[in-house]
Amino acid sequence: MATRTVRENVFDKPDAPESYVRNGIRKDVKPAKPKAGTGTPKGSTSKVEVETPPVPEARLFKSWNHLTTGAEASVYLGDCRTLLPTIPEVKRSTLDLVFADPPFNWSRGYDEWNDKMPERAYLDFTFDWIDLCVNGLRPGGSLWINIPDDWAAEIVCYLKGRLDRKPPALMAMQNWCAWHYRFGQNAVERFINSKVHALYFIKIGREHTWNPQEVLEESDRRAIYGDLRTESKKDGMPPGMRVPMDVWYGKFWGRVQGNNKERRHYHDNQLPEVYLERVVRACSNAGDTVLDPFLGSGTTGVVAHALGRKFIGCEFSEQNATNAVERMKAGPIRLGASIGQSSAIFEQRRVPRVPRKKSPAAD
Ligand SMILES: C[S@@+](CC[C@H](N)C(=O)[O-])C[C@H]1O[C@@H](n2cnc3c(N)ncnc32)[C@H](O)[C@@H]1O
Repeated sequence: MATRTVRENVFDKPDAPESYVRNGIRKDVKPAKPKAGTGTPKGSTSKVEVETPPVPEARLFKSWNHLTTGAEASVYLGDCRTLLPTIPEVKRSTLDLVFADPPFNWSRGYDEWNDKMPERAYLDFTFDWIDLCVNGLRPGGSLWINIPDDWAAEIVCYLKGRLDRKPPALMAMQNWCAWHYRFGQNAVERFINSKVHALYFIKIGREHTWNPQEVLEESDRRAIYGDLRTESKKDGMPPGMRVPMDVWYGKFWGRVQGNNKERRHYHDNQLPEVYLERVVRACSNAGDTVLDPFLGSGTTGVVAHALGRKFIGCEFSEQNATNAVERMKAGPIRLGASIGQSSAIFEQRRVPRVPRKKSPAAD
């Protein structure tokens, strides 16, 4: 254990000053103004020696090639804010797609990451890693962020350039999707939360990759109403199929828990493979470079690598990085499971009626 000097209780106080020593990044404390007649002020300079875990060094953890597609995968260990500026593809701005599912600042028991920052610090952290990802994208590259209600509005405003601080490049919002699941946290004092936002932006400058034909689903007109008009569409999509809507749900789309076959021991915040498959197929091509700055159990990696994308992941915890590499090498288990399926919420109401041929007698 390394010993570091930190201010006493600075994180536990609701009015903590904008300063902290955590997650390997030290910010200097702005001392709180002493109140007249009081003793030692909050955030004062009284110091205590505390035990803190050693900060993992930023380093390339593992790199290998996919057995069948030959695509390269690299996993880096450390804080993505330290790692990203050192990764060649980020420095060259050649990333085609970034998918980020950051810690939500919900006090979750991550293996190593401290998930309880003061609000301002969390937003600074968020805008810092977003900036690094935006810089790493090629013009026309896609940025996806999986984020709950708590922070979605701030991130959207930031990426739209509507706050005082601006992102390093112009970003255009393509979709504000919602990942809807049925088994969320129960609540009685307000409505039960059953969604996370999936924010989709592109970096302005060049054409972006958009492959709707890779992620089509059966239209409700076909699945429920047997409506023959959907069999001769004029939007360029195949008969009876449509681009998925911006609320995502259905079979295999729930939270990964219980005896779900995808579930990985030690990870309770895993995203379903079908979610990442939709994003990766729609917004990148085989041979493209995909980055996930918060790898976790490796869902982005396992899907992107199996689909022949060059994959780069960052992870703060060595245990999580080890698990993700193992999972990526084992491969996905649901690839293709939701492609072409229906997400209809009603049973079929009408069997398609084939137009009757006129009988010669009727003429
Ligand atoms: C919400 S989880 C990602 C889950 C992932 N999408 C999946 O499907 O398994 C966030 C992950 O980011 C890691 N993490 C947190 N802060 C980080 C940072 N600054 N740099 C790199 N990784 C970080 C955590 O250890 C955790 O594994």
